[in-house]
Amino acid sequence: MCGIVGYVGDQQALEVVLDGLRRLEYRGYDSAGVSVLGADGLQVERKAGKLANLEKVLSGRDLPGTLGIGHTRWATHGPPTDANAHPHVDCTGKVAVVHNGTIENFELLVAGLQDRGHERRSDTDTEVVAHLVEERYDGDLPATVRSICKDLEGSFVLVISHADEPGLIVAARRNLPLVIGLGDGENFVGSDVTAFIAHTREARAVEQDQVVEVRREGVTVTDLEGAVVEGESYHVDWDTDAAEKGGYEFFMDKEIAEQPEAVRATLGGRLTEGEGLLHLDELSMSVEDVRDIEQVVIIACGSSYHSGLVGKYAIERWCRLPVQVEMASEFRYRDPVVGRRTLVIAISQSGETADTLEALRHARSQRAWVLAVTNTVGSTVSRESDAVLYTRAGPEVAVASTKAVIAQLAAMYVVGLYLAQVRGTRDADEVRAHMQDLQEVPALIEELLTRMEPVRELARSLVDAERVLFLGRHVGFPMALEGALKLKELAYVSAEGFPAGEIKHGPIALIEPGTPVVIIAPRHALQAKLINNIQEVRARGARTIVIATDGDESVTPYADHVILIPDVKSLLAPLLTIVPMQVLSAELARARGLDVDQPRNLAKSVTVE
Ligand code: F6R
Repeated sequence: MCGIVGYVGDQQALEVVLDGLRRLEYRGYDSAGVSVLGADGLQVERKAGKLANLEKVLSGRDLPGTLGIGHTRWATHGPPTDANAHPHVDCTGKVAVVHNGTIENFELLVAGLQDRGHERRSDTDTEVVAHLVEERYDGDLPATVRSICKDLEGSFVLVISHADEPGLIVAARRNLPLVIGLGDGENFVGSDVTAFIAHTREARAVEQDQVVEVRREGVTVTDLEGAVVEGESYHVDWDTDAAEKGGYEFFMDKEIAEQPEAVRATLGGRLTEGEGLLHLDELSMSVEDVRDIEQVVIIACGSSYHSGLVGKYAIERWCRLPVQVEMASEFRYRDPVVGRRTLVIAISQSGETADTLEALRHARSQRAWVLAVTNTVGSTVSRESDAVLYTRAGPEVAVASTKAVIAQLAAMYVVGLYLAQVRGTRDADEVRAHMQDLQEVPALIEELLTRMEPVRELARSLVDAERVLFLGRHVGFPMALEGALKLKELAYVSAEGFPAGEIKHGPIALIEPGTPVVIIAPRHALQAKLINNIQEVRARGARTIVIATDGDESVTPYADHVILIPDVKSLLAPLLTIVPMQVLSAELARARGLDVDQPRNLAKSVTVE
């Protein structure tokens, strides 16, 4: 997600902050900005695009001052423009705010601020904080920030300066990481230690709902009531490369670990307060248009296609609408039957995949409605669609997709519930209950991630495997396809996914003594049938690796290895079953000495057909 740096000390802040932002570039961003507080008051510069654009604008300017904050923005609310770049300022030009995360109740707050005469100058959720500081400030910035944090919903790291307190930066966090850098006569805050590693290696982590006062002479941390919280500092001995990866060996390891947050961000703020109604980010379709839809066609490629297949199960179950899922590369060449009453859902994490783009253009030429599900605000897919649901997983560096895919899965459930709500196939209480089930999933993923060591060990034992098969039924089938794709991409092992019921119609011939077969078998109505399938492959000598639900003993007699996942409603199980398969593939690639982040022959964004 976004990168944040804050500095107070003796050095000229601009250089320190820009250097920190350069080191945070790996996080991915689409605009950047800085503010410096000095003798001339608060000075702010922001620019869309790469840091080089900002540096170009700054090259002819002097921004003297020893306190500064900086930000690289990954767009979530509003496209990546100069006006939406951070820092955001209040109406008086005294307050500067940078922010990472999503303020879920910002629309309500904006409405109040506008009623009270504040002028809104960006599309962002962040700007509300600058105006709230302006309104509530009474000479005590930390107290003002504590009071505002109590009124914010969602996730945030906020870093704020006020021209009336020129030696002070105040930062706060909820659900996202913030680290303090402790220097000698200078102090820092950052999204991670890379922001200040060139200046100090003494760091302290900020905990949930804490507010930090950063001054040249020292740092004070309080809770939201203002009580001082003592904490331990630690020494960072990572090199810069390891620091960028948060100490993980590969970006993919970090991105797998970030999945609870990715799902949380995707689900966050979808229910309108009071009414309990789901909403999408951008929608140019009327409720009547949504009600008139007669069929849904999902177009996507690769892992996004697998998310689409899961979406089909959810939409058909909740909305009783026929859903087809089509590989985007095939869609337009078969003269598909789509028209005004077709909703085409284009899923693309990058939002730039040529096949998906061409397919959506074809769908629009047939007058179909297009809903984009993408991770990239302002991408071509989002711009050319009638409605957009952003997955908000944050930028993904590893070429093969993990956290962006899990966020797409979460998004497809949201789309299913949205359609069910508008078309009246599920009542508001049921929609809310399903959203609640979904909202419990991030904590389950967190727990599941703590149990991955046996999966890594298993992966290492597969280092010489030549072929691995993946089987699943119902929503387990798309996950079998995804498990196989990840293994091919990362470990270059020949892998195929099948519906478990298909195995005896041909693929079972592939099984030899010792062939690893991963069977996705969380608790489900079809489980007895899956157990039969496990027995069928085991009888032919397969080494069975079964993904099952905690406490389910029924699969153990037939499994050479059991991977347990927390219990969850069976339709939502892909959000959990996908995790051990990602870990298995990444670890097997590592064991084979491969580059997990950059597999051969693959590109992150496939912009050619
Ligand atoms: C798999 C992977 C690819 C993408 C596919 C579509 O790990 O990353 O299969 O899912 O290239 O890309 P997007 O979603 O950007 O359209």
